[in-house]
Amino acid sequence: MAKRAIGIDIGGTGIKGALVDVKSGKLLSERLRYATPDGGTPKDIAHTLRDLIAHLPKAEGLPVGICFPAVVKAGVTKSAANVSSEWINLDADRLFEKELKRTVHVLNDADAAGLAEAKYGAAKNVQGLVLMTTLGTGIGTALIYNGKLIPNAELGHLEIDGIDYESKAAYSAKERDELSWEQWAKRLQKYYSKLEAYLTPDLFIVGGGVSKEHEMFLPLLKLKTKIVPATNRNSAGILGAAYWAKKHTTD
Ligand code: BGC
Repeated sequence: MAKRAIGIDIGGTGIKGALVDVKSGKLLSERLRYATPDGGTPKDIAHTLRDLIAHLPKAEGLPVGICFPAVVKAGVTKSAANVSSEWINLDADRLFEKELKRTVHVLNDADAAGLAEAKYGAAKNVQGLVLMTTLGTGIGTALIYNGKLIPNAELGHLEIDGIDYESKAAYSAKERDELSWEQWAKRLQKYYSKLEAYLTPDLFIVGGGVSKEHEMFLPLLKLKTKIVPATNRNSAGILGAAYWAKKHTTD
């Protein structure tokens, strides 16, 4: 079984990638970052990935895991957040395999972040239900039960007071509405209380760039469930995607 794989994290503004030792969860190369091409079409993004991978050292033939902000079923992207609508119902595994000429496995971005925590981070060896949430432009969620991913949870779109709550509680909403930490925490309290009532998780993990400032908002939340920041911040998607690719590749 290959110990190395390439992990790629595609977002609305940037595409990041690195070579990963999937056993230790350590990056074996620099993390490369390219701007997401305007419009975010599948063809343009595939070309960007080809360039990015060409700049990774000793990456010949290695499997590639790619995480993406969409529901992904068997390599087919079923939705598209902040990228072109051409992604809806696209066989992304096949498109990337043709372009990159190697094995590719695509998965949801929050699922990748959740896997990274389960294998190398705050959810390692945690039994029961872990609910990973990423607070960024949107809210991504991943369910991990006894270390196993239950893919494609889209709990960022939970409706509260008739509103898709991602639009109120994502980090982008804090910035857009110029909320103080206390004001934002009130919305987070509402959101996490609902998740807690519906799922009774054993652990919440909070990821996304803002999680590095966790001391500003996590202590303001009153929940029965333990809530901790993610340990893999900028590289969570890359690590989880590389792990996913390795898991689905036999050699
Ligand atoms: C999408 C999810 C994604 C999350 C974070 C949401 O808007 O529906 O699929 O995981 O944003 O990028």
